[in-house]
Amino acid sequence: MVSSLKDPWRLKFHLMPPGGWLNDPNGLCQFQGIYHIFFQYHPESAAAGGGGPKVWGHYAGPSLTDLQFQGIPFPQSELDRDGSYSGSALIAEGAIQLFYTGNIRHAGDYDYIHDGRESNTIRIVSEDGKHYGEKQLLLTTSDYPHICTRHVRDPKVWKQGTDYWMVLGARQQNEQGSTLLYQSADARHWQFYKILTTPEPFGYMWECPDYFEDGGQAFLSLCPQGLPSESLRFQNIYQAGYFRVTGALEEEQRLEDFHEWDMGFDFYAPQTFQDERGRRLLVAWAGLPDAPYSNPTEALGWQHTLTLPRQLSRRGGILLQTPADEFSGLRFGETPLRDGDTFIVEDGSADVELAFAEQSPWQIALGDGLLLSWREGIVQLELSDSWGCGRTVRRLPLDSCRNLRLLIDTSMAEIFLNDGESVLTARFYPDYQSGGGRRLPLALRCPGAVGTGWQLNPLPVNTCFH
Ligand code: FRU
Repeated sequence: MVSSLKDPWRLKFHLMPPGGWLNDPNGLCQFQGIYHIFFQYHPESAAAGGGGPKVWGHYAGPSLTDLQFQGIPFPQSELDRDGSYSGSALIAEGAIQLFYTGNIRHAGDYDYIHDGRESNTIRIVSEDGKHYGEKQLLLTTSDYPHICTRHVRDPKVWKQGTDYWMVLGARQQNEQGSTLLYQSADARHWQFYKILTTPEPFGYMWECPDYFEDGGQAFLSLCPQGLPSESLRFQNIYQAGYFRVTGALEEEQRLEDFHEWDMGFDFYAPQTFQDERGRRLLVAWAGLPDAPYSNPTEALGWQHTLTLPRQLSRRGGILLQTPADEFSGLRFGETPLRDGDTFIVEDGSADVELAFAEQSPWQIALGDGLLLSWREGIVQLELSDSWGCGRTVRRLPLDSCRNLRLLIDTSMAEIFLNDGESVLTARFYPDYQSGGGRRLPLALRCPGAVGTGWQLNPLPVNTCFH
């Protein structure tokens, strides 16, 4: 067993960069049985904006719990010389087709919003997930509607009927976030189709859009920037959520009921894909751009992680998120739990399930740094100053709380309430050095609750990065 007190915050079952910086998940897919998770990556520097232009990093393997780091899939070129930015994967014509944004910044006195930047939409095909063909330039700045600023990026591509569709995130000149839809018969030649946005501005920029259907109901997921914070909504610097979309794709559509994906401190740039079992899985960056928090791992040479892949299911117009089933296979050491118990989280990781007594307030404390509670329709997640590094409190409304699944991974918690109706993701940094190893008590004050706790094995790939 790896104790790794040199770097006690290294995760056991989440994907991190081997070293350096990670942000958005990209190009998620399963092809010929193999899962591929690409991500925004700076191998040389763990600092935000350090280490030169972003490249893609790549994990792949036969199961979501057995992925290996594959390095950098393709080199930069003139088309993406200032960053291979975010994008997606399409499985078609017996290959993985990647679509992403090539970022170009001109030297000069520019604001890089209205001028000085080009965004190339690029396609690159891999027939085996190991070798990559030539980059093809599909769209460039002059192909985007003139009402847009130079912030247009993050293509997500899918097939519907016989046509291919692409959605891009955009910042309009009038400071309205929007999405641009393009259509193609062959995934190579693209025509502008329409702008899909809200009647009134909902933030100034929409990043990382994703469009998908579940049982005939369409959803548009995106990351709006510029929404004012409220006490129970939009508490992070930027948001990530989805609209329910009404109307057919080829016609006029309306965006209804924005719903935040995650109410915790650390969640952004989610992307979904459908795997070969037909599951729709979501992976997000457990971090935020320009976040007002610090991460002490930066000094240890790495920063950020991805969320677990979460399986989506629909209840009416709401999407429920639960950890992909594979992760239950990491469990061992089952312990029954009830009110008043203190469950010891060994070596920093645990998976806990609890069913609560109806309308009875409850409270769960992890060590002396994380406190989660429900009382009178409000969930509250609090971190102490030393654990939170700038993260303090998040609250969300939840009329009744029936159950919880809590995954703890050394410096991260993912909390799923009411079968995944509400989720909170948080990074935190306990002082493991003076605490005698990565051992934390989880104290339950939950009258009437019953449940189970498990310890968790690490992912094979994470044991070799310690
Ligand atoms: C979101 C984002 C994307 C962009 C990428 C660059 O975090 O800003 O819009 O493509 O990161 O790393």
